[in-house]
Amino acid sequence: MAPWFTNLLAQPAEGVILIALLLGGGLILGYAIRTGVPPMPTGPTVRRAMFDFLPERVDGTVYDLGSGWGGVAVALADRYPGNPVIGIELSPLPWLWSRLRLALRPRPNLIFRRGDFLTMPLGDAGAITCYLMIGAMTRLAVKLSDELEPGTVVVSHAFALPGWEPETVAIVRDVGSVWVYRYVAGRSVASSRVNEQGDGA
Ligand SMILES: C[S@@+](CC[C@H](N)C(=O)[O-])C[C@H]1O[C@@H](n2cnc3c(N)ncnc32)[C@H](O)[C@@H]1O
Repeated sequence: MAPWFTNLLAQPAEGVILIALLLGGGLILGYAIRTGVPPMPTGPTVRRAMFDFLPERVDGTVYDLGSGWGGVAVALADRYPGNPVIGIELSPLPWLWSRLRLALRPRPNLIFRRGDFLTMPLGDAGAITCYLMIGAMTRLAVKLSDELEPGTVVVSHAFALPGWEPETVAIVRDVGSVWVYRYVAGRSVASSRVNEQGDGA
């Protein structure tokens, strides 16, 4: 019998923890490969810049598409207490974590759905946030063009929506420089503005 296996049998608690960590890590990695996006959370500096781009009032549902561990969706629920806020996440462990944090500190206007946002209707959106990657943004751009009402604001961390003209772009000084994009559905913008903000503090 291999020595590592004998060690595991001798220390069952450590063995269970190790196997749980390996299975959890494998599950997260598997879904990151499937969606093309790992569950990296948006940090506070970029989140502030994203929230600066959101309208003061929103008419409709606020979505965080690919809500990961739930941090942005929880902050959206606090920012818009009068709107339904929905975080959609495909990866089971981050989704489970966000459900747990919501169970511990409920927000009546917030729900987390598990599934692929590309297959869910988004036409009731009043505002959308996302932090995805280029492949997912390409598929999302087509869907949002088809479904969003004119005037719906889309704020994206780091990745542009292909084929959409941003209304404004902020370059946020965080760990390096991060671009944040603000789009308004149905509004054709001839030239976009670029703001520089944040000091990485
Ligand atoms: C980089 S994380 C961002 C998490 C959170 N929005 C934030 O900013 O902190 C992106 C998440 O999107 C999820 N994701 C990617 N494509 C998805 C899809 N089609 N449907 C649901 N979730 C998706 C990934 O599983 C990942 O957890």
